[in-house]
Parts: sequence; C-alpha cells; structure tokens
Amino acid sequence: MLDFEYCNPTHISFGKNKIAELDKLIPADARVLILLGGNSAKKTGTLDEVITALGNRNITEFSGIEANPTYETLIQAIDIIKEQDIDFLLAVGGGSVIDGTKFVAAAALFEGEPWDILLNWGNNITQALPFGSVLTLPATGSEMNSGSVITRKDIQSKRSFMSDHVFPKFSILDPSKTFTLPERQVANGVVDAFVHIIEQYLTYPVNAPVQDRFSEGLLQTLIELGPQALSNPKDYDIRANLMWVATMALNGLIGRGVPHDWATHMIGHELTALYDIDHARTLAIVLPGLLDCQRESKKEKLLQYGERVWNITQGTETQRIDDAIAKTRTFFEDMGIKTRLSDYDLNYTHVEEIIKKLEYHGMTALGEHQDIDLEKSRHILERNL
Ligand code: NZQ
Ligand code: ZN
Repeated sequence: MLDFEYCNPTHISFGKNKIAELDKLIPADARVLILLGGNSAKKTGTLDEVITALGNRNITEFSGIEANPTYETLIQAIDIIKEQDIDFLLAVGGGSVIDGTKFVAAAALFEGEPWDILLNWGNNITQALPFGSVLTLPATGSEMNSGSVITRKDIQSKRSFMSDHVFPKFSILDPSKTFTLPERQVANGVVDAFVHIIEQYLTYPVNAPVQDRFSEGLLQTLIELGPQALSNPKDYDIRANLMWVATMALNGLIGRGVPHDWATHMIGHELTALYDIDHARTLAIVLPGLLDCQRESKKEKLLQYGERVWNITQGTETQRIDDAIAKTRTFFEDMGIKTRLSDYDLNYTHVEEIIKKLEYHGMTALGEHQDIDLEKSRHILERNL
C-alpha cells in the first residue's frame, strides 16, 4: 500500500427529515446565502423546508446555477456576498450547485482574478467562506469532498480544482429528497459513482486489499441497486443505499493508499465543454474504450475486477478481460446510457476537436502511468465511435 494522509472534516447528517438539523448546524447569527440550481428545489418543496429550518436567520437566495456550473454565472454571487455581508453559504441541489458553491466560497475571499483558481488547480486558495450543503442528487460525492469542476463558457473550458479549504462543513443527505429525480439523473448518478470507483480501483495492484474490497463492494451495490432504483423509484431503502454509495465513492476513503487514473474524467470533461453532454454520459462513452486500450497495463486489476465484481472465471485471460469490459458497457446501456460517440451524433471530426482541446489544456500525459498521450486518447475515442 502507498503512504497517505487522510482527513475528511465534513459532518454528514443522513436520513428522513434531516433538513431540520440546519438550525443546529449553522450559527444562529449567520447571514446566509442559499445557492440553488434551476427550479427543482423550489418545485419539490425542499427550498421551503430549508427556509423554515433556518428560522430567523438573515437569508438571501442566489439561483440559476446551471448543470455544469459556469464561471460567468457564479461570479455574480460575489457582489451579492459583499453587498449583503454574507458569512455562510448553503448549497441546495446536486453536484453542480455544490461545486459552484465551493468556487464562490473560495472566490469571495480570493485576491486577483478568480479564474486563476482553476488555472492553478486550487493550489492558490488560502481561505474560503464556510458552507454546507443539502444534497438532492446522489452522484458526484461533492457533498463530502474538496473538489469542484467549473466551466468557462467563453473559452469552452471545463476545469477542476481541489482545496482543503472547500470541504463542506456539513452535508444533509435525505434520500427521500431524491424521489423527484428524473430517470435520466438517477442513471447519471449511478454511472458517475461507478466510474469514480473504477478510476481509483482499476489501475495496478499495490497490495491494498482493504481498498480493493471496499471498492468491489461499492461497485456490486451499484450493479444490484442501480436498475432497481429505475424500476422501483419510490423505494426509500434503495435510494438511501445509492446515496451513501455515491458519497463513499468519492469522499477520499477508497482512494487513499492506491494509484489513481482519472483519464476518463479528463477526456470526458472536454466532451461536456464542447458538446454539452451530461457528465456521466461522457464517462460511459470514454471508459470502455479506455479499458480496452489500457488492457496490458491494467491486466491484473481487470482480471480481478472481472472475477470479483462480475463473477467471470472461465476462458483465457484475453476472453475474461473482453468479458469484463463488455459487461461494464452493458451495465451502462441497461441504465439507459448510450456508450458510443455515434449515439451522440459525433464522428471522427469531433474526435479531432476533442484532441485539440486536450492539447490546449495540457492533458497530454493522463492515467496512472501518465502514458495516455494525445495519440492514445484518439485511439480511446475512436474505439468508441
Ligand atoms: O438545476 P435544478 O433545477 O436544481 O435541476 C437539477 C439539474 O437539472 C436536477 N435535480 C437535482 N436534484 C433534483 C433535480 N431534479 C429533480 N429532483 C431533484 N431532487 O438534476 C439536474 C442535474 O443536476 P447536477 O447538479 O448538474 O448533476 P450532478 O449532481 O450529476 O452534478 C454534475 C456536475 O458535477 C461535476 C460534474 O462535472 C458536473 O459539472 N462533478 C463534480 C465532482 C466533484 N465535485 O467531486 C466529481 C464528478 O466527477 C463530477 O465531475
Ligand atoms: Zn464524475
């Protein structure tokens, strides 16, 4: 196992009616800015519940944070924070609202041009406003991690940053708040969480059976419960378990002491920035081709994944790896998520556009061995045309 440090300071409040806990979790004299997406929190009644729980606190609302939150929108929150003397932020929504809140929290106290935060991967953040979240969409793990992904529309750039300063102080996870999700978002959440686990698990062995077994258990839970969440959309326990899997998939636990890949995410971000494809869908497009291209360097873990996650024990090594990749693709397709570029009307010309963007962003040495150069990225994408 590799050496590591691990500290996750986010308090989780999990279960039905936990929004009422906001009263205890936010200082009584806080001046709160509630950050929201489109209209879902208002329509579903979650926003009303939040406002009731906040009681007499001074509240301002900032809505309109898009899926794949943009710098252009978020930057407008900074003026409001200054004008209203805001000292606590509360994200109510999915990963986009939480990511956007992280950016606002850091940008509000940042000296200089806030986009530099993204250009420096967050290493230049020295402080941030405190914030909490009420999660309404299990997928990204943003509710319990220090990462954020922000898009700049004018240059079609989707970039991420990380900083210990932007861990949420708390996150409220009420699984019943996910009953209103459209099927598409449920499926996106399952696939996003699945790929988060794969990016931290399916690399090369470092004798870390604790992390491996955690990851395999989480993957199997998604395989079992993902389809059930679609066929049985009002089952609380299914939603509760999915919500917790998605959080555990990217709260740092399974990723400590093991190598990481993240090439699927980096390539996927270019697909979202260029063609506005949902984040999880970009991952479903990239991952099968990536596993195929990287089958030699990932061989041992691919065989382990096939055997322990999909019960593949018959055939030659090549056949077992083929089978493991095929089962992964079928799982995504069964969740209603297409896995080919052509399913999204993209062809060779688009592949070249994606490669140019990867080059522009310096994404020329991706993966756990930094061996995915532009040529390999092209292969990966072309394999999934
Ligand atoms: O905008 P509203 O009206 O709120 O509607 C949202 C949005 O349209 C809707 N929604 C959310 N909760 C709902 C609901 N609709 C009905 N009922 C509810 N309870 O769902 C739509 C999608 O929401 P969004 O927040 O965009 O989805 P998700 O949670 O999948 O977040 C995606 C973003 O997170 C980033 C992605 O790149 C993308 O920008 N990621 C963040 C990560 C992190 N911070 O660690 C890691 C991930 O890999 C990912 O990159
Ligand atoms: Zn993701």
